[in-house]
Amino acid sequence: MKKIAVLTSGGDAPGMNAAIRAVVRKSIYHRLGIYGIRHGFAGLLNKELRPMELGSVADIIHRGGTILQTARSAEFMTQEGQEKAFAFLRKEDVENIVVIGGNGSFKGAKVLQDAGFNTVGVPATIDNDIPCTDFCIGFNTAINTVTDAINRVRDTATSHERIYVIEVMGRDSGQIALFAGLAGGAESIIVPEAPFDLGKVCSRLMRGVQRGKLHSIILVAEGAASGLHVGEEIERLTQLEVRVTILGHIQRGGTPTAFDRILASRMGSKAVDLLMEGWGGHIVGYHKGEIKAIPYEELFNSEKEFLWNVYDLAGILAI
Ligand code: F6P
Repeated sequence: MKKIAVLTSGGDAPGMNAAIRAVVRKSIYHRLGIYGIRHGFAGLLNKELRPMELGSVADIIHRGGTILQTARSAEFMTQEGQEKAFAFLRKEDVENIVVIGGNGSFKGAKVLQDAGFNTVGVPATIDNDIPCTDFCIGFNTAINTVTDAINRVRDTATSHERIYVIEVMGRDSGQIALFAGLAGGAESIIVPEAPFDLGKVCSRLMRGVQRGKLHSIILVAEGAASGLHVGEEIERLTQLEVRVTILGHIQRGGTPTAFDRILASRMGSKAVDLLMEGWGGHIVGYHKGEIKAIPYEELFNSEKEFLWNVYDLAGILAI
């Protein structure tokens, strides 16, 4: 009987639990031995492997976070740490591993793959910064959380006739700012992918004020600039009253949307199919409604596409 182990690594994302559930249940359906590794790659070093049963994943499809816990392991990045992990997996007779996480986690998956294990990656990160997949698990939930926050801020912004700068997550990526900014009707969206000019942001704000707009919302991705700095600069340049809200980790929690649960269920299930068919060395990706297998080589040689048409549209609609 083939043994499959599943781990979650890097920053957590809503829908990771739905993905774990799919991996576990699909494995049980195929009568495979299924194990959970706690604390990501660190769990391989600390020998945190435990058998999973149907009941292990009961009542988790709607929960944010990850029941397997997650971590970023510096030790696994060392050769000594990796040897320790290989030895542990060989001793436990685990040859197949599903890695649920982001770009960093897939580098870890490739280390295992190169050492002779079969690994499949399942993209889960609110940043949605993984190439070769339109969506990552957790992103849809995060942009809904941010859109809801924008709605709330908009109420108080209108009452006080203020400008609000809202800083959102996205270490190297403006995807959250872009999509939530479009959904929330932000006046300006500042992302690391596009050059920005605070002078132009301020001119747009002033035009709005002259037209009688009661509030303005500027969305800033943390990877582009600090929200506090942007707020101070806008106040200095316009002499208008500005408040800054940093949404932080609330964007990573919460019950996953139906979209993320469905995506996670389909991706987790496909990961097991790939391992059964001997297709290690791939991630699963979502493109045009289909779940596909993408080889690690293609993943590591691709860049995340930035949707300039969406960015331009957000600018046009915010005139
Ligand atoms: O998971 C991605 C992410 O949320 C980034 O958007 C953010 O910069 C980072 O993780 C924060 O990580 P930590 O959990 O270490 O604060």
